[in-house]
Amino acid sequence: MNVTAPQTLSAGPAPQHEAVVPVKLWLCPNDALPPAIAGVLAQHWFDEREHETAGRFLFERDRRQYLVSHTLVRRALALEAGLIEAELVIWRSSRGRPFLQPLPGGLPRGGDHLDFNLSHASGYSLLGIVRRQRIGVDVEGLGREPRALETILTTFAPEEQRWAAEAPPGRERERRVLRLWTLKEAYSKARGLGLGLPFDEFSFSLADDRGVLGFRPPADDLAARWRFLELEPVPDVLVAVAVPAGELPEPHVELYQGFPWARSTPHVITLPAPVGAPRD
Ligand SMILES: CC(C)(COP(=O)(O)OP(=O)(O)OC[C@H]1O[C@@H](n2cnc3c(N)ncnc32)[C@H](O)[C@@H]1OP(=O)(O)O)[C@@H](O)C(=O)NCCC(=O)NCCS
Repeated sequence: MNVTAPQTLSAGPAPQHEAVVPVKLWLCPNDALPPAIAGVLAQHWFDEREHETAGRFLFERDRRQYLVSHTLVRRALALEAGLIEAELVIWRSSRGRPFLQPLPGGLPRGGDHLDFNLSHASGYSLLGIVRRQRIGVDVEGLGREPRALETILTTFAPEEQRWAAEAPPGRERERRVLRLWTLKEAYSKARGLGLGLPFDEFSFSLADDRGVLGFRPPADDLAARWRFLELEPVPDVLVAVAVPAGELPEPHVELYQGFPWARSTPHVITLPAPVGAPRD
């Protein structure tokens, strides 16, 4: 899945109409940002907390991942909001979910509320940005230790465990486990609960290839409130997105790849309709 050539950055008004509010996704491989450049951007853009966290990593690989993820967040939010990267104020909920602090007069590029969610794994950062609602995203690369997969599987609902175990061990089973895992993370991150929401209290039933067929929500939620999207934008890199269903007839996702140096032309994907609870 390729993205066409970047367009020039323009300082004009926000390109979208208020009625059409796309979900924006940025998938950025670490390789898209050379370490020296990531270091310079971080030096100029990070707040005290980010500098402190970046300084705590034991392994250079983990530090690099953090620098790419957090410069991606600041750059993409700055483009979307019309603010300067270093001036974005990001705060965290008591459960660790980051939020962009709203500005009293609204955002320079329109609207007053942006939500975002970040995930990083296997050398990729995934950022989701949306206006006026919530978003949760997750990215996972295939290639996990079989023992780690079995541990993950024990946290799932019984029907999900059965479905995953129907696949032969190896790539096919790993794919099933990680498809479920990314969707569960995306949903719990959209709700801001992270791992605080037990993963056996809700479940997905999935098509063999791709796509959510059914969603059994936790006791305090309704299946029809959510839309889910599964993608594999790069072979063996699985992505899941969860957003509230909203009222738009055909909401869509704009997928951008690489580091957002400038505005670029995205790959446009329709968001699937909400699904009901699976039948037993
Ligand atoms: C959110 C959480 C599920 C992330 O899981 P993960 O697969 O390791 O990491 P991902 O790369 O997908 O996502 C990490 C990002 O999610 C975001 N995030 C953190 N807490 C979040 C929450 N409660 N809800 C939504 N997003 C959250 C952050 O941006 C984080 O990246 P950052 O710390 O570099 O800013 C997990 O860290 C979590 O639940 N944290 C909350 C604290 C908690 O319950 N800890 C118990 C540990 S057993």
